[in-house]
Amino acid sequence: MKKLVVALLILAVIGFFLLRDEFQSSEDSSSAARDPGVRGGAAGAGGPIAGLTKTELAFFNAGTDEFAEEEGIADGLGPTMNLGSCAGCHLHPAVGGTSPAMNPQVAFATLNGAANTVPSFITPKGPVREARFVKNADGTPDGGVHDLFTIAGRAAAPGCGLAQPDFERELAAT
Ligand code: HEC
Repeated sequence: MKKLVVALLILAVIGFFLLRDEFQSSEDSSSAARDPGVRGGAAGAGGPIAGLTKTELAFFNAGTDEFAEEEGIADGLGPTMNLGSCAGCHLHPAVGGTSPAMNPQVAFATLNGAANTVPSFITPKGPVREARFVKNADGTPDGGVHDLFTIAGRAAAPGCGLAQPDFERELAAT
């Protein structure tokens, strides 16, 4: 009987070490989970869901075209914006997705002669970003999006002198 108890205890201890990863709580920072990094291969995303009717598919395709279209001033772009297309920001791993590896906002700042300064929080390999301000100039709560760029300087916008918001001042104030 004593031997059986000892054997069971030994089994329990071994079992604990074998299975403890299974019982870890989500707060446990020693989790054995590993980030496999960026997935390779085909995107496996970005297409329509299965089973659409012909009309629904036509809507999907028309929407995808609009989403990917690079807008210019003649299309109504401006006077302020964060980029010239939806898909520029929503691109990874396919159109409709998330921020691409290279941030298109850096090149966009000076596209077609535009005279924008790239705010410090927009970097070539950083995520695409929009900016919200904490407070209005009079101290009341803001929280709204303030577009990063203007069309000033673009060949197609002669006479536009609209200044960007002072992002560095806003950053310093937060
Ligand atoms: C400058 C980059 C940028 C551009 C351009 C942009 N988006 Fe986004 N979009 C974002 C970011 C960043 C978020 C996430 C915002 C958040 O969660 O606060 C987002 C979120 C969204 C969401 C919500 C997604 C979700 O899962 O909740 C939709 C829908 C969306 N965008 C559609 C569009 C459409 C349509 C356009 C074009 C008209 C567009 N976006 C252009 C950056 C962008």
